[in-house]
Amino acid sequence: MATMITDRIKEKPNSVICLASGDTLKLALRKVVDKATQQQIDFSAVQFIGLDEWIGITAETHGSCADFFNKYIFLPLGIPNNNFHLFNGTAIDLEKECKKMDEIILRLGGIDLMVVGIGINGHIGFNEPGISTSLKSHVAELQETTQSVGQKYFNSTQILKEGITLGFQHLIDSKEVILMASGVAKAQIIQKTILGEISEVVPATVIRKHPNALILIDEEAASSIAEKERIRFNS
Ligand code: F6R
Repeated sequence: MATMITDRIKEKPNSVICLASGDTLKLALRKVVDKATQQQIDFSAVQFIGLDEWIGITAETHGSCADFFNKYIFLPLGIPNNNFHLFNGTAIDLEKECKKMDEIILRLGGIDLMVVGIGINGHIGFNEPGISTSLKSHVAELQETTQSVGQKYFNSTQILKEGITLGFQHLIDSKEVILMASGVAKAQIIQKTILGEISEVVPATVIRKHPNALILIDEEAASSIAEKERIRFNS
């Protein structure tokens, strides 16, 4: 996965890359940073977009998406401020914040690569079950599951009722998408994402409509997919 990202940057040094935060991406980004450092890959022209942010959480709060991006990619690679674009979860005018992000993406010529995770309820970003697939940036009410699972990122209990997120229209328009999942906690939702009906009930199934998408999972995340299905899916 790290190689896929660094290869894209070698091919197109001014790539526009959208990243999710979270545990799944943590390991992957560590590898990207190692590879970039070892091979002296030039990231100076890459433009990064943050997939989402918790509403009401400042960028400086340990556990915010901004804090994650800073820690795991921007600071280690010395990415200049002008080259990353993150939602401000404490903006007074959130609609304006959404519009601003949509305009930035448009101005940059669209997203080349999105690297995302998946929630146990099937969300990508904060696109929760039932969400329309034609939305761009928007504010989302978060399901109970997302609110409680999200506490794992923080040192103290936070109110996580809403999120600001890129929408599925961005995912559909992105030139390439990689969805990653690891661990047994993701096994059931991965089974539904890959083999279930494509529907907003499991938002991540939208990825199967994308002509250039890859679902990268480990053995544990694949453990609810029966052997015969694996063969069918691979062939
Ligand atoms: C975070 C995000 C979320 C996570 C998902 C998986 O920016 O967009 O959709 O990708 O909740 O989180 P982890 O990787 O922590 O299991």
